[in-house]
Amino acid sequence: MKRSILLAMVAVACVLTLPAFAEDGLVCADCHDEVAAGMKNQIHMRIQPFEVNDREVGCVGCHGDGVAHMEEGDPTLIRNFDNESADDAQACVECHAEKNQPEWAASTHAMEGLACTDCHDIHSRNNPLNSCKSCHADVYTEFMMPNHHPVLEGKMSCSSCHDPHLATEMQLRTHTRANDLCYTCHQDKEGPFIFEHVPVVEDCSLCHLPHGSVAEALLTASEPMLCLQCHELHFHAGLLSPDGPIDVGGTERESPWGEHSMNLGFTSRCSQCHSQIHGTDLPSQTVPGGGHGMVR
Ligand code: HEC
Ligand code: HEC
Ligand code: HEC
Ligand code: HEC
Ligand code: HEC
Ligand code: HEC
Ligand code: HEC
Ligand code: HEC
Ligand code: HEC
Ligand code: HEC
Repeated sequence: MKRSILLAMVAVACVLTLPAFAEDGLVCADCHDEVAAGMKNQIHMRIQPFEVNDREVGCVGCHGDGVAHMEEGDPTLIRNFDNESADDAQACVECHAEKNQPEWAASTHAMEGLACTDCHDIHSRNNPLNSCKSCHADVYTEFMMPNHHPVLEGKMSCSSCHDPHLATEMQLRTHTRANDLCYTCHQDKEGPFIFEHVPVVEDCSLCHLPHGSVAEALLTASEPMLCLQCHELHFHAGLLSPDGPIDVGGTERESPWGEHSMNLGFTSRCSQCHSQIHGTDLPSQTVPGGGHGMVR
């Protein structure tokens, strides 16, 4: 046993004079063959021949100088990661400076005490996204609702919308404003339009949930209830008017459906007529002086 350690020391002495990568992995592999095999195609081993911030990459890039450790075979003589976030993150951001202050330190994840290694499984090349599920099971299940963004289908991922390294209230890729995020993929909803719908310009999430919904089109509520939170039913879709005409956008109108109008109103979708609910450049023509109806 002592002999093999001695041999290893000799090997190390030779190897450490070379910056070459494969050798470093091999020396460690003498005693950590499984770990080394798992690392074979990992990016940190592939980029070994390069230096980052004057540091070699490879096993020693993260674990530090292994000579004393190998001489003594003593695990306390090499840097290990114990998920004490501050230390661990420090080891990573020595090279990944872009993940350093102030963004990472101020992120919700850092403040909750997460380490880089809570999401990045260095030795097994797991997809870091799998980790989201382990802590955010509630959000994950929202994507199983009848209507959802296609994350579980693999067409997009949590990190299409979130940057888990960054600091902001909402951790969105576009920081605080959700609309800017939505516009990156749904360009057709970005105006300016001549006839705008005020809540659309203000915040998509007034009507849409980001992850999943039981209502169609990710809506927060089904139509017409969605619209009725802010508008009244009107003639063609609505109000029973036994006392004569009712006011529609400033104009007096009869309900053509009489006593059935209320039923009709609650069983129709407003967007059947107001089809351009996100805004349009074409004026609606039915009501004189109107034009804001977003019906075409
Ligand atoms: C001569 C054998 C030998 C060599 C060569 C060797 N190690 Fe180890 N290493 C050990 C032993 C023994 C342990 C303790 C038992 C274990 O965790 O497997 C250990 C443990 C470790 C640990 C865990 C430390 C802890 O706190 O639990 C790390 C990390 C490590 N080695 C990294 C390396 C790296 C990196 C290299 C190459 C630079 C290396 N080792 C080369 C024998 C060796
Ligand atoms: C990018 C940084 C990084 C590189 C490169 C790296 N490790 Fe690790 N290593 C870690 C982290 C982080 C842990 C803590 C456990 C974890 O999160 O997987 C760890 C844990 C270990 C352990 C102890 C736990 C275990 O899985 O047995 C050993 C031994 C080890 N590494 C050896 C190596 C060897 C050998 C190499 C080169 C082939 C290497 N490491 C390259 C970051 C790294
Ligand atoms: C010695 C320098 C160094 C250290 C220390 C280091 N890395 Fe890296 N890492 C690199 C380089 C170089 C790359 C490849 C270029 C890039 O993507 O920036 C890389 C790439 C990555 C990638 C991208 C992987 C991919 O498949 O695209 C992740 C994730 C990563 N590192 C995480 C970590 C974590 C977590 C730690 C701490 C446990 C760490 N790194 C420590 C140098 C380092
Ligand atoms: C909450 C989970 C999580 C934590 C914590 C985390 N990451 Fe990541 N990281 C990810 C995900 C997810 C990706 C993939 C992003 C993508 O595909 O765009 C990633 C990508 C990366 C990349 C490569 C792509 C890029 O954005 O540059 C590097 C490097 C990286 N992380 C380093 C780190 C370091 C260093 C830390 C600790 C300071 C850390 N990560 C902490 C989830 C995490
Ligand atoms: C180790 C556990 C853990 C992992 C893994 C994890 N998170 Fe988190 N995350 C938390 C905690 C704790 C909070 C703060 C409490 C909360 O909002 O649930 C949080 C908060 C968030 C928030 C809200 C941020 C805010 O400021 O309100 C988002 C978005 C988020 N995580 C996304 C992700 C994504 C995307 C991944 C995978 C790449 C991920 N998380 C992986 C623990 C985790
Ligand atoms: C289409 C973009 C998008 C995708 C994909 C997405 N999110 Fe979100 N997420 C958002 C938006 C927008 C918010 C902000 C909601 C708010 O604050 O009103 C949010 C909020 C959150 C929050 C904090 C509030 C809450 O609901 O608990 C967490 C945690 C979160 N997302 C995690 C995830 C995880 C994990 C995934 C992947 C399984 C994911 N998100 C995928 C857009 C997205
Ligand atoms: C990374 C790209 C991306 C981002 C960012 C994004 N979406 Fe999507 N969205 C998609 C994809 C892909 C689909 C699915 C399209 C399909 O299945 O044909 C979709 C579908 C939808 C649907 C329609 C669902 C249905 O069943 O018709 C709505 C509504 C929607 N997104 C709203 C939003 C909102 C609101 C935001 C901002 C919080 C947002 N999206 C951000 C890519 C994105
Ligand atoms: C006033 C409520 C409301 C607001 C605010 C709103 N939407 Fe919608 N959205 C709807 C309704 C209702 C539907 C379903 C009827 C339809 O298909 O037009 C829909 C459908 C969608 C669809 C799927 C059908 C299509 O047209 O592609 C997408 C994508 C979408 N909205 C994106 C957005 C984005 C992005 C925003 C923010 C810029 C936004 N919505 C703001 C009410 C709204
Ligand atoms: C969060 C509140 C809110 C929701 C939900 C909402 N709207 Fe609106 N809507 C408004 C506001 C505010 C205006 C601007 C009113 C004004 O300028 O007088 C408006 C304007 C309109 C207009 C043009 C009226 C005008 O005078 O310019 C139509 C048509 C309309 N909404 C239809 C709908 C339909 C259909 C839905 C459901 C898909 C809906 N709205 C959901 C708040 C809302
Ligand atoms: C049968 C088709 C139809 C249905 C269904 C419908 N509307 Fe209308 N709505 C119209 C027309 C046409 C106008 C007049 C538009 C114009 O001339 O500018 C109008 C006008 C409006 C206006 C006033 C616009 C203005 O210019 O003053 C609002 C607000 C409105 N509708 C909301 C709703 C809501 C909410 C629902 C669902 C409860 C709904 N509509 C259902 C066709 C419809």
